[in-house]
Amino acid sequence: MHQLFTPYELSGTSLANRVVMAPMTRTRTLENNPDALTALYYAQRASAGLIVTEGLPVSDEGRGYLYTPGIHSDIQGQGWRQVTDAVHAKGGKIFAQLWHVGRMSHVSIQPGNMAPVGPSDVAAENTTVYAWIEPGKAGPVLPSVPRALTVDEIARVTADFVHAAKVAIDAGFDGIEIMAANGFLFDQFLSSAVNTRTDQYGGSIANRQRFLLDTIDAVSAAIGSGKVGVRISPFGRLYDMRAYADEAQVWSSVAQALDTRKLAYVHLNYQPTITAAQVPPGFGAQFRQAYRGTVIGAGGFTQELARSELEKGDLDLIAFGMPFISNPDLVERMQNNWPLADSDRSTYYGASGAPSQGYTDYPAYGAAAGANMLNGINVAALQQFAQGVAGHPDKGEARFNVKTRWQHQTRSVATVSHYVLGGEKHARHFEIASDEPHELLGQNTAPNPQELLMAALNACLSVGYAANAAAMGITVHSLEIETDGKLDLRGFLGLDENVNPGYDEVSYVVRLHTDASRERVEALHQAVTKTSVNLANFSKAIRMLPTLEIIEA
Ligand SMILES: Cc1cc2nc3c(=O)[nH]c(=O)nc-3n(C[C@H](O)[C@H](O)[C@H](O)COP(=O)(O)O)c2cc1C
Repeated sequence: MHQLFTPYELSGTSLANRVVMAPMTRTRTLENNPDALTALYYAQRASAGLIVTEGLPVSDEGRGYLYTPGIHSDIQGQGWRQVTDAVHAKGGKIFAQLWHVGRMSHVSIQPGNMAPVGPSDVAAENTTVYAWIEPGKAGPVLPSVPRALTVDEIARVTADFVHAAKVAIDAGFDGIEIMAANGFLFDQFLSSAVNTRTDQYGGSIANRQRFLLDTIDAVSAAIGSGKVGVRISPFGRLYDMRAYADEAQVWSSVAQALDTRKLAYVHLNYQPTITAAQVPPGFGAQFRQAYRGTVIGAGGFTQELARSELEKGDLDLIAFGMPFISNPDLVERMQNNWPLADSDRSTYYGASGAPSQGYTDYPAYGAAAGANMLNGINVAALQQFAQGVAGHPDKGEARFNVKTRWQHQTRSVATVSHYVLGGEKHARHFEIASDEPHELLGQNTAPNPQELLMAALNACLSVGYAANAAAMGITVHSLEIETDGKLDLRGFLGLDENVNPGYDEVSYVVRLHTDASRERVEALHQAVTKTSVNLANFSKAIRMLPTLEIIEA
């Protein structure tokens, strides 16, 4: 099993695997209170080693987007308790992301319609927040010009984080993540382009990182540093964050400062991907050297990239964002190489209409369409079998055996008497005859070996399409596979040593009638092409181990 799927000790929290569900704002809570739907959404994704919730405003001032659930009131704490219980009941672990948006907000959703707060009055341009365009009409609006927090207010915001962290721990969260990424409050303080203060929170790097570090220390003192993670987005450009002079030094200074604090982890969000152009080459390795605790990486990861980055050693855990939206069972899908479902961007955000749409209605692989039987395949049994094999690979070891007796002329009969699965022998009895046509000196009583070979390929592909389609929730109305191969019999006849006796190439056409979209059918086709046993037997060299036994007369 790849280390991506092996357990990890996260400063006292045991994770079942190294896959993290990245924090994702989903704006599904009309009253800013988490509810049963929130609990269902996170519980569906509980096979992630760790879930980090969407950003949770630590106060109403900290909110920049309508319908984002907070974590400061009693009612919110009770709502989150439902969520943590549901996730824990499924063996998952969950951290709450504590969020203050700073300047990324709008007067229409700020308490008393005041200006949003930030390090200075530098507004974010060329971007939007989600607020009231006009009374009763929600939509994207330009963030309002912020006002600078006073020194007393900075201390109050730190206290808001401490309060929210306590609410989170009381609500059963395994820990909290301080959101210092993506151009929100702490990121704004770190940037000399946004932070133009001249007091102890502006100017030098030590001053600009003071607010973040003081808040981390205050929260750590309240709940324990081992329950505190921090998310940063080095060289991030989201939400009008621009390059600034001492940017590289900021991230190395932050790495060193965090290193001394014995936190649960640092979560690096690379925008938009780990290979983002603006991140200097070698940054990951440098960060690893400076910060010796657990590092989570996020941003554009595929399973392949996740595996190779873990092997490289600069990251300990890998966070996946968008793939978790449409694949609640992302871990199982990656483990079994099942195809991933695409997510619908138009439902990433939104509380109006049906909040469950694009939120809790993405099925797990195999449970697709809620059907247990599809194409005659018992989907639940298939999934159960696959999960059993994933947990115990020896259960998936199959041995097949065929005994063939020559009868006369070109005719032979093969007998199948048993097969072995997971070390257990299962008896069965079938006979398969083979013969050659008259032209090839036979009696034409049965298909010839070349035809049987193709029949074996087609039969295997048919199983593949029917089963994978069932698991993906695709109904197959009809399926026909036609295979064609050309042989040069000079090889068999021994007339020319340079002629391959076997097929040089085989073409096949799959005729599939379904109602599924072209993309889904192509995903199905790819899944079958990747996993078909006999397609692999056809296309990859097999080590043959012949033994000749001469029976004495
Ligand atoms: C719909 C959506 C909402 C997001 N909300 C948050 C958030 O609340 N907090 C945060 O730190 N990152 C947020 N992100 C960023 C993700 O955590 C993640 O870093 C990003 O999507 C890149 O990872 P991916 O390529 O695997 O999706 C959000 C991303 C998406 C797509």
